[in-house]
Amino acid sequence: MNEFSPALDLVLNALEQIRERGEKLPRASRTSLGQLRRPAAVESRAVSPSTSNKAALLAPIQARVAVCVKCPHLAATRTQTVFGVGNPDAELMFIGEAPGADEDAQGEPFVGKAGQLLTKIIAAMGFRRDEVYIANVLKCRPDMPHGSSGNRPPTPDEMQTCLPYLAEQIAIIQPKVLVALGGTAVEGLLGARGTMRDLRGKWHSHQGTPLMITYHPSYLLRNQAPSEKRKVWEDMLLVLERIDRPISEKQRKYFT
Ligand code: URA
Repeated sequence: MNEFSPALDLVLNALEQIRERGEKLPRASRTSLGQLRRPAAVESRAVSPSTSNKAALLAPIQARVAVCVKCPHLAATRTQTVFGVGNPDAELMFIGEAPGADEDAQGEPFVGKAGQLLTKIIAAMGFRRDEVYIANVLKCRPDMPHGSSGNRPPTPDEMQTCLPYLAEQIAIIQPKVLVALGGTAVEGLLGARGTMRDLRGKWHSHQGTPLMITYHPSYLLRNQAPSEKRKVWEDMLLVLERIDRPISEKQRKYFT
């Protein structure tokens, strides 16, 4: 790890706290805090681009996330935070919305029904789940009214508060391709939201990293039509082509 990283971390945390208390000086936007962080990650990668190095860079962020109380209502209701899982050196990084009840209970993203479908998609692409990296825009389960078992999307405030963590994860992992699963991930990564129908199946860019947008697996659970599965699969074929993965004839024909 870069010898200045711990000091930089301290300064950034102090700036973040000052910013949150609403004090006037010093001024630091979340974007500039994110940019300050990036060179530290990139620089230490240049020194040693090993997987273990990336794991070492992710660990202190995971530790900060684990005790985060920036959204007191979420900190009060979560079982635990859900940081991310997979290969810190992954070529492919999937971004979802937020933990659901299963993820909140297990501390791992995408382990419920939608997660099991995502794992199947990843396998159909020729990867094991632990070869890619999976994370969410929000690291806490969005709280629900007492007794309600459903999910709600994150609020804009919750997203803005939590997004710097995802920015740090992406800056360290530096995947070849990002895959945004559903509208919340798109909003988090592109800051804008169009219709999924217009956005999916095309290349976008997140700070220079190619970004593919596709439907969230929970959409496929609600819409079982083969045509919808095929759309997601076509998006994944584009991803495989982009990272120069050989595609078999069998893979090309899935869901046709
Ligand atoms: N949906 C998501 O977006 N993320 C998860 O981790 C689980 C379900």
